[in-house]
Amino acid sequence: MRIDILTVFPEMFRGFLGESILSRAGRAGKVFIRTVDLRDFARDRRRTVDDKPYSGGPGMLLKADVWIDAIETVRTPGCRVIMTSPSGVAYTQRKAEEYSSCDHLIFLCGHYEGFDERIRTLVTDEISMGDFVLTGGEIPVAAMIDSIVRLLPGVLGGGAEATANESFGADGMLEAPQYTRPPEFRGMRVPEILMNGDHAKVAAWRKRQAIDLTTRRRPDLIEMGGTFAIGENP
Ligand SMILES: C[S@@+](CC[C@H](N)C(=O)[O-])C[C@H]1O[C@@H](n2cnc3c(N)ncnc32)[C@H](O)[C@@H]1O
Repeated sequence: MRIDILTVFPEMFRGFLGESILSRAGRAGKVFIRTVDLRDFARDRRRTVDDKPYSGGPGMLLKADVWIDAIETVRTPGCRVIMTSPSGVAYTQRKAEEYSSCDHLIFLCGHYEGFDERIRTLVTDEISMGDFVLTGGEIPVAAMIDSIVRLLPGVLGGGAEATANESFGADGMLEAPQYTRPPEFRGMRVPEILMNGDHAKVAAWRKRQAIDLTTRRRPDLIEMGGTFAIGENP
């Protein structure tokens, strides 16, 4: 997979891309990620990428000519051009899964007051990270890339199972509580059922817990088609 990040602030990605699973995925050849500095496409010596909006009002808008040049330079046939925007559709694990099967993604990090409307003519997807306003698209893009790259085959240990059993995984529900050693800490004991080695009982317990947690915290996920338990409640 190839990912291009179009941004006015490429330095914001240096630490993020150079650490942990993303860095390892890059070194293992699972993904090629690069930042593209919008200022390299500016048309003046001051490398201007923004200008005052025609409608008046405070703040600056990102210029259509600069962004469209940049997108046309890096795009490939069939690639997805993903704009970050509070008015986009909400990002979800299903979107991460969809993007993880693409060959080439281009992310547009907005800033200031956002984008000149004409840039949207080259955009295939407009994504929001939630009902709040951030200073720029760099944090949403970092979050999306992280969620996509960890789904690529061979990036996480444990294969497809590692992600299928997580929150929003194959059953669409939240993950059941998990424990590690010690078996008791400050009077808090690990549920006996998790330590008795009976895989079928553990699976049934986890499913019940996932349903209870999802029903309490995110009933909307159940309404969206999360699966319910079948058989006896242990
Ligand atoms: C200050 S915001 C612009 C907000 C815009 N004027 C509006 O009211 O919708 C600057 C940039 O940050 C990014 N951004 C801010 N909030 C976001 C969100 N909730 N989801 C995705 N991107 C966001 C977008 O790239 C946006 O162009």
